[in-house]
Amino acid sequence: MIVRFPRAFAHFRKPRLSRTTRLALLVLTIAALAEIYVHTRQFAVRQPTRNLDEPFYTSCQEPAVDAPRENAAIVMLVRNSELEGALKTVHSLERHFNRWFHYPMVFLNDEPFSYDFQRAMNESTSGGARFELIPKEEWSFPEWMDERAATKSIAAQGRAGIMYAGMESYHHMCRFYSGKFYTLEALRDYKWYWRIEPDVDFYCSISYDPFVEMARRDKVYGFTISLIEGADTCPTLFRQISDWKEKHGYRTTELWKAMVSPSWVPWPFRSMMSWFRARDSKGDSWSLCHYWSNFEIADLDFFRGQDYQGLFNHLDRTGGFYYERWGDAAVHSLALGMLLDPEKVHHFEDLGYRHDFFFQCPANAQGGQRWESQVLGSDPTYTSWSPERPGGIGCRCECDGAVTRNMGNYCLDRLKKPSTKKLVESTRGGVW
Ligand SMILES: *[C@@H]1O[C@H](CO)[C@@H](O)[C@H](O)[C@H]1NC(C)=O
Repeated sequence: MIVRFPRAFAHFRKPRLSRTTRLALLVLTIAALAEIYVHTRQFAVRQPTRNLDEPFYTSCQEPAVDAPRENAAIVMLVRNSELEGALKTVHSLERHFNRWFHYPMVFLNDEPFSYDFQRAMNESTSGGARFELIPKEEWSFPEWMDERAATKSIAAQGRAGIMYAGMESYHHMCRFYSGKFYTLEALRDYKWYWRIEPDVDFYCSISYDPFVEMARRDKVYGFTISLIEGADTCPTLFRQISDWKEKHGYRTTELWKAMVSPSWVPWPFRSMMSWFRARDSKGDSWSLCHYWSNFEIADLDFFRGQDYQGLFNHLDRTGGFYYERWGDAAVHSLALGMLLDPEKVHHFEDLGYRHDFFFQCPANAQGGQRWESQVLGSDPTYTSWSPERPGGIGCRCECDGAVTRNMGNYCLDRLKKPSTKKLVESTRGGVW
């Protein structure tokens, strides 16, 4: 079929632009693409030639019950009303780990613990329980804050449907876990903490001492699951931290690059992107990928140090813990990205762990279950151990090993890229 242009539109068929203009446009387009390429390349993660973070062990170990321990505590923030869920977690962790290692558990609450709670925990912990009241000023609005404005904002966030953001106590908790937790008098004597929460499951035997291994391998922070943060909880958090990073001249680590999503808008329009408050002064944004903080094994000294506390105090003064709902996971993760090289972060991929609907569970290591071990073998529930699979690294995990992870691996891959060996192209063009 021949399409005929009506006479009135005939001029559309003629080239509208002169040769020179077209050439100029072409050059501009190429220049813009090249500029975008150069810009995004700045955030390309430089992968190492060897893995910088391997699992500490890939099969069951004979628990070193007589070896020296680290100066560490298992810490849970919990209310009296959550006793049942708290007991579930404690029983799970005792059965899978602490019955061999007997680390003390510290329970934190913004109200005094009930007699029943203390008695139940005294009976359930093999390394002793301590019960600590969080000082009022560390679980309330900062003194300079306009409480009425903050309360109004919290109510508005709730109406806007931002997750948990309508609850004042949730904001206190996020602020507490972001900064004040680390400087608690109750934790002053410890070097390491393992954060746990009510109502989580541990699925695998942890037959080695993670604190000892963290110290031995010079790690600072250990995690299990990484997720995407809800953008509406923290519209200005990344900008605040990025500006702080620039102001204090922190170098850009590979971990920071792994967290940033560079803008694809060309110069000079890119800098206009910085008018969006979720972006930094250059127009780039955060991928929202973070380490989920309800499980953490980490070095208290890092978080008590000047760099971290300086950042926290700055963030606190902006009011964002109340005028937005900044989560402690987001704050921890971006701070780690700003301050640490990738080899300081450890993924406990050999641990089975569940919180809410999110979980990680490795397949069991083939031939690595130490059936002969007297110490490990006294578990009466052995029938629920899942099969061993090639490539498995778990120790007596109680999940079927078919599905090992939820949510795909988008954030995990992204955050682990800087510590993961670059794949080598084979001569046949494949990748191994
Ligand atoms: C729990 O144990 C601590 C220290 O061992 C003790 O002081 C306290 O009285 C115990 N509390 C209850 C309720 O059993």
